[in-house]
Amino acid sequence: MFRTHTCGELRLSDVNKTTTLSGWVQTIRKFGSMTFVDLRDRYGITQLIFSESLNDKLEANPLGREFVLQVKGSVNERSNKNNNIPTGDIEITVTDFIILNKSLTPPFTIQDDTDGGDDIRMKYRFLDLRRQAVKKNLELRYAVSRSSRNYLHEQNFMDIETPFLIKSTPEGARDFVVPSRMNPGQFYALPQSPQTFKQLLMVSGYDRYYQIVKCFRDEDLRADRQPEFTQIDCEMAFVEQEDILQMFENLIKRIFKDVKNIDYTHQIERMTWEHAMWVYGNDKPDIRFGMQLCNLKFPAHTFPSQKDISSLISGVDFKVFEEAETVISIAIPGCCEYTRKQTDELTEWVKRPQIGMKGLVYIKCNTDGTFKSSVDKFYTEDKLKAIADATNARAGDIILVLAGAEEKTRKAGSELRLYLGQQLGLRKVDEFKLLWVLDFPLFEYAEEDNRWVARHHPFTSPKPSDIEIMINNNPVIDNPSEYLKHPYANIKANAYDMVLNGNEIGGGSIRIFQKELQQKMFAALGMDDQEQKHKFGFLLGAFEYGAPPHGGIAFGFDRLCAILGGSESIRDFIAFPKNNSGRDVMIDSPSSIDDKQFDELQIKLDLKA
Ligand code: AMO
Repeated sequence: MFRTHTCGELRLSDVNKTTTLSGWVQTIRKFGSMTFVDLRDRYGITQLIFSESLNDKLEANPLGREFVLQVKGSVNERSNKNNNIPTGDIEITVTDFIILNKSLTPPFTIQDDTDGGDDIRMKYRFLDLRRQAVKKNLELRYAVSRSSRNYLHEQNFMDIETPFLIKSTPEGARDFVVPSRMNPGQFYALPQSPQTFKQLLMVSGYDRYYQIVKCFRDEDLRADRQPEFTQIDCEMAFVEQEDILQMFENLIKRIFKDVKNIDYTHQIERMTWEHAMWVYGNDKPDIRFGMQLCNLKFPAHTFPSQKDISSLISGVDFKVFEEAETVISIAIPGCCEYTRKQTDELTEWVKRPQIGMKGLVYIKCNTDGTFKSSVDKFYTEDKLKAIADATNARAGDIILVLAGAEEKTRKAGSELRLYLGQQLGLRKVDEFKLLWVLDFPLFEYAEEDNRWVARHHPFTSPKPSDIEIMINNNPVIDNPSEYLKHPYANIKANAYDMVLNGNEIGGGSIRIFQKELQQKMFAALGMDDQEQKHKFGFLLGAFEYGAPPHGGIAFGFDRLCAILGGSESIRDFIAFPKNNSGRDVMIDSPSSIDDKQFDELQIKLDLKA
C-alpha cells in the first residue's frame, strides 16, 4: 500500500498511530543530526523527522526537492506547533523511507510566493499546478461546476453533448477550422458555442438543456478571453424573458451560496442597455460604486428620450465644449484637494492613445462652497455651481469633464470612472454586485461594410413590439453618416446580459422560432436566399417541423470562476491555458504538421508573406 493517510489528514487525535505517507518533497532542512522534510500532496503538507538512525540511508539515497517519497513512521505531537497548516500540531517520526522517483531541480519554487515568472510557469504548467494557489483555483472551478450541475439537475435540465466538428456558428468571432481527410478540400469549424444545436434540441422536445462545454473563438486575447473557453450553456422551451431571468438568477445565487457561502438574497438589479450607456458609458457597468456620468451634451439621436441640458455649458466662448459632439462630467468624491500634479497626471492619463482624449477640464467644489476650475475664465461661479448640481457633485468633490466625439468620449468617461474607482479603492474584490442589462439593440452598424450585424447573434428575436418595424422597413442604409436615424437602429432585442462587478459573465436571448422571421433576420444581415440555405438550411428546415418558442443563456464559466476567486485573469482558473498569442508553450502548440499529414489531407501549404 502506498499510503494509509494523505499529507493533509493527520491530527493530534492520531498521535501514536503508525502511518505510511506518499508525496512530494517540498523542503529539506537539516538541524544537527536530524533532517526535517515537508511532504506535500494534493491534500496538504506534513512535517517529517528523520532521526540520526536514518542518516546512513539518507546519505546513500539523498533527497531532493520534488522527489516522490514514501515514508513509514509514527505520529507524534510537535513541540513547536505550526498554526498555519491543519497538520501543524503533529509530525511523523520516520522509521523507513523509499524514494519512489527522483526529480530534477524544479525551475521555480513550488510555493505560493513562487520565484517563477509567468512564462516559465506556463512552460512547466504541470509543476505550477502543484502549487497551493493554483490548486485552490481549480478547486473553486470544480465547486462552481458541481453547484451548477446540482442546481440544473434539480430544475430538470438535461446535460446533452453537442458536436465539436461542425459548421460555422456565428457569434461574432473567427472560426477555428479543421480540414477533413475524408472530404478533401472541405473543413469543419469548431463551435464558437453550441447555439444552433441547443436550439435544435428545443425543436426535438428536450425543453431544458444544459452543458458545461468548450467553445472556440479565434479572436484577440485579453485577460478575460481565451481561444478555447468554457460556457455553462443553457436553453429552455416555452419560456419568456422573465422565466429565464428568474431561473438563472437563482443559478447564480446558488453558486454564490455553495461556493462562497454568500447569501445573495436581494433581487438582482436590472438596467436597460440605454441607461447603462447613459450613466456608465458602458454596457457592463460596475455598480459597486456610484460616480455616474453626467451627460452635459450629446447628439440628440443617440439617446432620443433623454433631456438636453447643454444650455448649462453653452453661451460662453469656450471652444472645446462648443465644438464637441459630447461633453461628459463625473464627480469624484472627496477629491477637491487634488494638486496640480494630480490633475496633470489625470490629464496625461486621458490623453494616452488608448483613451484618446485631447484634454481634461476640472472643477473643484471646495468645502466652503466656492469653486475653482481650469475654465474659470469662461464660466462664472453660478454656471460652475449649475454644472456641479447637474453632476450630483457635493462640496469636497472634484468634477472631471471630458469633451469630444460621442463614442470616444463616452468610452473615455467609462474608463476614467473605472480607473478612479480602482484608485479610490471602490472596486473591492470581496464585494459582489450582480446586474441584468436588458433591452439591447438588435443590430449594430458595421461601418466598413455599411450594413447591419447582429449585436448578439442572428437567432435573437426582436422585442415583439419591434417586429413590425423589422418587417416593414428595408435594411439598406442609404446615408451611412445618419445610420442612427434608420428605423433598424432603434429595434430592441429580447436579449439580456448578466454582469458581475463590471464583467459580462453571461449573455442570452429569446430566440426567433418562426422560419419567416428568421429569414427576414438573415436578410437584414445581408444574406441572400442562397447563402441562408447554404449556411443555415438545417435550422430553417427544422423550424418547419414544429419549433417551440424558446430562449436561453450561456455563462462564461472561466470568467465567473476568476471573479469569484478574486482574480483578473481567467488563465489562473484553467488547468492548461494558452498565452496571449494563443500558444500552449508547454506542448508547443500550434505547430507545423508532417508532410504526410498534408498529403493525406490533400492540402499544399503556400503561406502568403
Ligand atoms: P456570448 O457570446 O455572449 O453568448 O458568450 C457567453 C459568455 O461567454 C463568455 N465568453 C468568453 N469567455 C472567455 N473567453 C472568451 N473568448 C469568451 N467569449 C465569451 C462571456 C460571455 O458572456 N450562444 C450565446 C449564448 C446564448 O445566446 O445562449 C453565446 O455564446 O462571459
